[in-house]
Amino acid sequence: MLKVGVLVSGRGSNLQALLEAARDGSLGAEIVLVLSDRAEAQALLRAGDFGVPAEYVAPQNFNTKDAYDQALVEKLKARGVELVVLAGYMRLLTSTFLAAFPERVINIHPSLLPAFPGLNAQAQAVEYGVKYSGCTVHFVDERMDGGPIIAQTAVPVKQDDDAESLARRILEEEHRLLPQVVRWIARGKVRVIGRRVLVDE
Ligand code: GRF
Repeated sequence: MLKVGVLVSGRGSNLQALLEAARDGSLGAEIVLVLSDRAEAQALLRAGDFGVPAEYVAPQNFNTKDAYDQALVEKLKARGVELVVLAGYMRLLTSTFLAAFPERVINIHPSLLPAFPGLNAQAQAVEYGVKYSGCTVHFVDERMDGGPIIAQTAVPVKQDDDAESLARRILEEEHRLLPQVVRWIARGKVRVIGRRVLVDE
């Protein structure tokens, strides 16, 4: 089974979706380690509930971003991690990290990229007035929310939506899309050709 490590910073609802899919056998992958850059992340407790090793790694204990990322890489490699999932992880990864897991780091973002990268994507969508937003799972490169797109789900923006109501509906789709992409990768269905990602039927 594909060994997955998950990086988190907060609530951990996407982590929860992965843990549930792993437990019921539908993920085709095993979550072997959860790492957080925030001590108070609820995600750490969720991992604990599923008996998955979880650790807070304090950024302030490292002099540079590279040193921090190197420490994360070592912990992930020690557990045999083959795929890294960013599930609400709020830091940009360095090239040190990415070089250790080439084309093996994915992220979930709550908009239809390349629209509305960065923070508060749902509020950005409401303010801009788009009629559809959604969520994107993409490979991670050094640009923020910029790597090749693997899959997207569109979610209509309603006239009376605010950032919170839209975020809630997008989140439901995130919880479907992220496990689905991990399943595809675990089954070897995903190929990257330049910026285009092909998913074999
Ligand atoms: C999600 O909306 C995800 O798309 C974004 O951060 C949020 C994390 O939520 N990258 P959670 O921690 O998974 O509940």
